[in-house]
Amino acid sequence: MTTILVLNGPNLGRLGTREPEVYGSESLADIEAQLAASVPEGVEIDLRQTDDEAELVGWIHEAVDRRVPVVLNPAAFTHYSYALRDAAAQLKQAGVPLIEVHLSNPHARETFRHTSVISGIATGVIAGFGSGSYRLAVDAVLRSLG
Ligand code: DQA
Repeated sequence: MTTILVLNGPNLGRLGTREPEVYGSESLADIEAQLAASVPEGVEIDLRQTDDEAELVGWIHEAVDRRVPVVLNPAAFTHYSYALRDAAAQLKQAGVPLIEVHLSNPHARETFRHTSVISGIATGVIAGFGSGSYRLAVDAVLRSLG
């Protein structure tokens, strides 16, 4: 069984009701169901969400230790969490794929969202396609696994 960790940062548990004009009307549970339905047999989606930076860092450490590829929507941590970047850099060091995703296109929004401290160590970045960003990212992980 191949596992893909789909990790989500702060406020993403509010998807569906949070600024639907920006983030769409689907909940994280909807996205999880779509991803689970889209992956081939033998691939498991392990989707998690936290508002807690320490918990997210811990999940990245787990991914490093287990060599599990990660799709990460760091949410607001994208823009300032050096702790998350340092954790994610260990995925790069271990050769484990990390795809940064965003529902919106942060570059088309407020200036503070134009900076990502994660992108520099990510395998790739997908942004602006709503829940489709997650599907594209999972597809990219599957292709990288061959
Ligand atoms: C987001 C973009 C971030 O700027 C924001 O803080 C989020 C969601 C996105 O998916 O578009 O919470 O990561």
